[in-house]
Amino acid sequence: MANALIILAAGQGSRMNSDLPKVLHKIGNAPLFAHALAAGEALEPSAKVVVVGHGGDTVAAAAEAIDPEITIARQNEQLGTAHAVAQARDALADYEGDAFVLYGDTPFVSAETLERMKAARATHDVVVLGFEAADPARYGRLVMEGDRLSRIVEFKDADEAERAITFCNSGVVCADAATLFALIDEVGNDNAAGEYYLPDIVEIAWKNGKTATAVACEERETLGINTRAELARAEAVFQQMKREEALENGVTLTAPETVFFSLDTYLGRDAEVEPHVVFGAGVTVESTARIRAFSHLEGCHVSMGATVGPYARLRPGAELANNAHIGNFVEIKNAQIGEGTKVNHLTYIGDADIGDGTNVGAGTITCNYDGVFKHRTTVGRNAFIGSNTMLVAPVTLGDEAMTASGSVITSDVEAGALALGRAKQVNKPGLAVRMFEKLKSAKKKQQKG
Ligand code: UD1
Ligand code: CA
Repeated sequence: MANALIILAAGQGSRMNSDLPKVLHKIGNAPLFAHALAAGEALEPSAKVVVVGHGGDTVAAAAEAIDPEITIARQNEQLGTAHAVAQARDALADYEGDAFVLYGDTPFVSAETLERMKAARATHDVVVLGFEAADPARYGRLVMEGDRLSRIVEFKDADEAERAITFCNSGVVCADAATLFALIDEVGNDNAAGEYYLPDIVEIAWKNGKTATAVACEERETLGINTRAELARAEAVFQQMKREEALENGVTLTAPETVFFSLDTYLGRDAEVEPHVVFGAGVTVESTARIRAFSHLEGCHVSMGATVGPYARLRPGAELANNAHIGNFVEIKNAQIGEGTKVNHLTYIGDADIGDGTNVGAGTITCNYDGVFKHRTTVGRNAFIGSNTMLVAPVTLGDEAMTASGSVITSDVEAGALALGRAKQVNKPGLAVRMFEKLKSAKKKQQKG
């Protein structure tokens, strides 16, 4: 049966002490809500709704940027979790199948857990995700009778016996969408908080001849973010999970605790990552590539057998073909680097296409920016760019072209040509010695006077 995701993201998150809506704070360079969304993707959802409220326009824009298939639902007043889910009704009007309710501020629910909830739907109408809480604090309590979930009591409304229960509500719920909305219609707000509680659908389900159960997960999966301190702790948890995942996938990490990942970092099998490497958003590294120490990568692709660093920076749009070599203190931005091409030392390549088998000498710079516009540099195959060449874009160099070191290349160079774009060298015999003596005698005079 089909699946839909409803992600609740309307809350203010006042404890973050921030102008930014809570769900836009980031873990692994991706907004909090994107983590719940990524777990939900495992269910191959045919519909995805994000319910926005506080900072709605900003959250909506971020959600649409991440996934254009997302529908935005607005909850203008935060009247409770059931009311929030009800706002997704119109977006799912033509949808038939199950709906999963996830929280935008709860990033670690795993795909595997959601799949276990789906499996429990075979026997029950409503499936709630619960966890054994080390400190149940203010969580809603799950009242179980065998495998029946008879109701959920919010802490504020619970009596002493109910407060003693340690099996708690994560907030994640799965039910047939039509059933879910029908149950929500019956939820009232006659409770301690005066809110429409989503958990109330459990008791209502039983009254309507439907059944409910709970599936349990590890407490760490249900970790919600409410403060900056929790955000920082969650980042650490996330990094630890990504490191373990990389190691399990056959990636070599020499010092895993020093490597930082993004939600979408992809590293192929037998890729190797040395200490102190940061993967910003949007990086894919193919199998057998090697990322050497102290490199920073974002928005780039590194193909098989390529080497990056130590101390390299790959910025968005950097595309390295197989076996390319990017060495120390080299920055690549929005540029294709051809197969086996070497850019080994102290170089900036931006807005460029460099062909296969080319060697770019130390200190080469593509002068891509004129202060207003960006311009492209194109270099052919098997070319040789001499050290300290300034390639003033727009400029094109053909296959097997060569530039003399120290050249400032302002016009195109045809294939096979050598371009010399620098002053001719002149030697003056004996002049160095004569000048030096003159200077020394000047200094003596100064000291006497
Ligand atoms: C909720 C549950 C509680 C559970 C806990 C787990 C209810 C009534 N209680 O409590 O049983 O143990 O989560 O963390 O559901 N939201 C909206 N609109 C609203 C209200 C909330 O979008 O009108 C969103 C929030 O942004 C948040 C999520 O729903 O992402 C949960 O809301 P929150 O107010 O944090 O619920 P809790 O009181 O923690
Ligand atoms: Ca909460």
